[in-house]
Amino acid sequence: MTASVRPVTAPADFRAMKQRGERSAWLTAYDAAFAEILGRAGVDGLLVGDSVGQVFAGFGTTLPVTLEQMIYHGGAVVRGAPESFVVVDLPFLTYQTSVRDAVWNAGRVLKETGAAAVKLEGGRAFARTVRRLVRGSIPTMGHLGLLPQSVRALGGYPLQGADEAAATALRDDAQALQDAGCFAIVLEKVPAPVARAISETLEIPAIGIGAGAGCDGQILVLYDLLGLTGRFRPRFVRRYAELGQDAGRAVHAYVRDVKDGSFPSEAESYEAP
Ligand code: KIV
Repeated sequence: MTASVRPVTAPADFRAMKQRGERSAWLTAYDAAFAEILGRAGVDGLLVGDSVGQVFAGFGTTLPVTLEQMIYHGGAVVRGAPESFVVVDLPFLTYQTSVRDAVWNAGRVLKETGAAAVKLEGGRAFARTVRRLVRGSIPTMGHLGLLPQSVRALGGYPLQGADEAAATALRDDAQALQDAGCFAIVLEKVPAPVARAISETLEIPAIGIGAGAGCDGQILVLYDLLGLTGRFRPRFVRRYAELGQDAGRAVHAYVRDVKDGSFPSEAESYEAP
């Protein structure tokens, strides 16, 4: 079904949505086919997340993902949903090394994919980087709370902002990113009251994942929502379908039909000229 809403076209539109009290719905996308479906279904923002490394490529973390891979997937998503607002993640080691690297690599993402914006992980330590990106006309989304690219430093994927000092640090990070020019911030795996308080303080939207209902929008990994990921079932994911099971049944039926000779039928075959 095609949604009747006007597509979001500029980063500032998300701030306007927040001012109107309108929540934005985001999903990850990694390929043209799903991107087309999401665009038609009225998703406000498509994130080509570096979660592509885990969900699509089977790595254990996002760390191995390269800029070339993000550009490949980013281009596919933009081609599948040319009307959608597409954000592409800057992968590990493409912006932490220097501000110059960040501008160069983010610029390549915009030039070579046609995406609308980039996203990077981190707070005050990256405010200068964000400022330079935005000054260079590269719209930038922040990412706070659980930072998957910091998995080695964190020793896993723990809840963030769980005590008062950590919650205060998160709020200060969010303020710094807003001041530096981010048009929105992803808040990942943060207690709901902390995320709500941060969302209420900010003028830009906070897009939550595992951060409760008080955020200005929500994002999920598409494969989790569709039930395509078997083992990964954190409490913040709502599975709206079980496509993994459907796919398994379909492939099972195909194998059966090939083996018993019922596929292909005459109607599925070409006659002699
Ligand atoms: O990489 C990703 O998919 C993300 C989302 C979890 C927000 O950053």
